[in-house]
Amino acid sequence: MKTLIVYYSRTGNTDKIAKIIQEKLNCDIERITDNDKYKGILGFIKGGFNAVSGRGTTINQCSKNPEEYDLIIIGTPVWAGTLAVPVNTYIIQNREKFKRKIACFTTCGSSGYEETVKEISKRCEKSLSATLSITEADLNNPSEKINTFINKIKN
Ligand SMILES: Cc1cc2nc3c(=O)[nH]c(=O)nc-3n(C[C@H](O)[C@H](O)[C@H](O)COP(=O)(O)O)c2cc1C
Repeated sequence: MKTLIVYYSRTGNTDKIAKIIQEKLNCDIERITDNDKYKGILGFIKGGFNAVSGRGTTINQCSKNPEEYDLIIIGTPVWAGTLAVPVNTYIIQNREKFKRKIACFTTCGSSGYEETVKEISKRCEKSLSATLSITEADLNNPSEKINTFINKIKN
């Protein structure tokens, strides 16, 4: 199954999980970048506000074509109980190219992942094959949850 992980990470947590999944699946990976639009405390405030408003932003051109993949795994931090703005933007720009399966993973402090997963499914206009939620408490030892997620994807 040709798989692409596409994710955004502001402070490295989602990046860490994305890279572990990538290593286990040996698949393609693409990080969504936005020239640090949400850096610092002002970025935090703006990020929360824009996420709740469902706004888009400008992201840099991605190199992988999602149309070529059987499975796209979308990774996002939870922002104010929903997906991060750059991920929302990626979905809006690419959802017509999601031809087959979609899965997702979220990272968060402690809460908001259920709603975020629902929003991803809604915005992709597809049901999700598998989901993974990593909280700050899981970050140092995420292997078990990641393995369960990967088994679900493979079945
Ligand atoms: C704008 C903003 C809003 C956030 N809102 C939530 C939230 O609603 N619930 C939560 O548990 N964590 C929240 N967080 C914390 C992040 O989801 C968490 O630190 C995440 O792992 C960061 O991922 P990253 O390092 O890949 O950017 C928020 C962080 C930011 C920047």
